[in-house]
Amino acid sequence: MAMKDFMFYNPTRIYFGKDQIKQIDRSIPKNAKVLILYGGGSVKKFGTFDRVVEALGNRQWGEFGGIEANPVFETLLKAVDQVKAESYNYLLAVGGGSVIDGTKFVAAASVFEGDPIDIFGQGVGQGLPIKQALPFGTVLTLPATASEMNSGSVVTFHEKKAKISFGSSLTFPVFSILEPEMTFTLPARQLANGVADGFVHTMENYLTLALHADVQDRFSEAILKTFIDNAPVYCDPDQADYEAAANIMWACTMALNGVASRGNVGDWATHALGHEVTVLNNTDHGRTLTPILLATMHVRRDGKHDKLVQYGRRIWNIQDENEELVIDKAIQKTAEFFESINMPTKLSQVGVNESDIDFLITQLEKHKGQKIGENGVQDLATSRLIYQTAL
Ligand code: NZQ
Ligand code: ZN
Repeated sequence: MAMKDFMFYNPTRIYFGKDQIKQIDRSIPKNAKVLILYGGGSVKKFGTFDRVVEALGNRQWGEFGGIEANPVFETLLKAVDQVKAESYNYLLAVGGGSVIDGTKFVAAASVFEGDPIDIFGQGVGQGLPIKQALPFGTVLTLPATASEMNSGSVVTFHEKKAKISFGSSLTFPVFSILEPEMTFTLPARQLANGVADGFVHTMENYLTLALHADVQDRFSEAILKTFIDNAPVYCDPDQADYEAAANIMWACTMALNGVASRGNVGDWATHALGHEVTVLNNTDHGRTLTPILLATMHVRRDGKHDKLVQYGRRIWNIQDENEELVIDKAIQKTAEFFESINMPTKLSQVGVNESDIDFLITQLEKHKGQKIGENGVQDLATSRLIYQTAL
């Protein structure tokens, strides 16, 4: 098996380091009318909003706050109304993945011809192509999703009980500001959630088939090692360590900006199963992923054999001759890593019971989850087994 053919495109300009918010001034046209989008208020509480306003200088601007964690479709439609009513032509997301994802939708929906629900597919809308989008930048306050340097977005539909993604080459941020010091105000739970999300993004692209995509594999291994090495300091909110924060922030961005994934085959079933858990009981995204990844490593160990062995040897330095033993130990080491940063290793720790599994599987089926995983090998029976194993 060889590396797959691929196209790689990533136009987002990154400003990384200390005091980078001032770069907003060189990134947004002077005559732009800017809508600042943010979440539940952390950016106002910690002074980021004021710094953004200062950097905007004399530009005209307005604000839209209240984008929820797991951004909700109806809330975002209100922002679309505001963009149209007040004629904004540039958006600025200030927040974590939820605010950035929500802003991507607003950028596309504000200039979409037709009903914006049709931007989404997977049984929610028609999944029509996006032909234009407003330009937008981001100020990242929570390293986790890599939404600051990719074109994907995940939106929650309460009525339809769904978390559905969309993406387009038109929904990359024009620029993103990454200041590691921004993480110093994050609570312990969000610090760990972000590490887990970035770790699992890397695994979704890496723990599949051995394709001899050497650069991508070595790259993924560097990212995984960076998480493992820096997480103990980063996840302790009392330490506020710049080096750890810088390394974790860049690792999260690199885990899902396309560099490590192109030419490899992706899995993404852990995310598909995890989204259904969030819809069930509003569990944080990262906390759905760790139990499901561990269960996937058990249930799908034959299909993922070669990569599991590679992972065990290169990441955890397990050098036993017996490959099955390497895999057992690699899964154990991964569980211990998640435990060490207080992430769940069982779905029962996030309130999921045996009696929820029928609902989760029905929802997965509704959202076109019949054939997921690398090359569509994971059917609903396997997904059921993964949920059961994860309990
Ligand atoms: O809303 P505020 O008040 O700002 O508080 C937020 C929120 O409650 C808080 N927070 C953010 N930055 C902070 C801060 N608190 C203190 N100090 C700071 N510097 O953190 C809470 C969680 O924020 P959220 O944006 O929801 O977290 P995250 O970045 O983990 O984003 C999760 C969302 O991203 C989607 C997930 O499904 C979920 O909806 N994903 C997006 C992806 C993508 N676009 O590529 C891929 C991912 O796999 C994921 O699915
Ligand atoms: Zn994720």
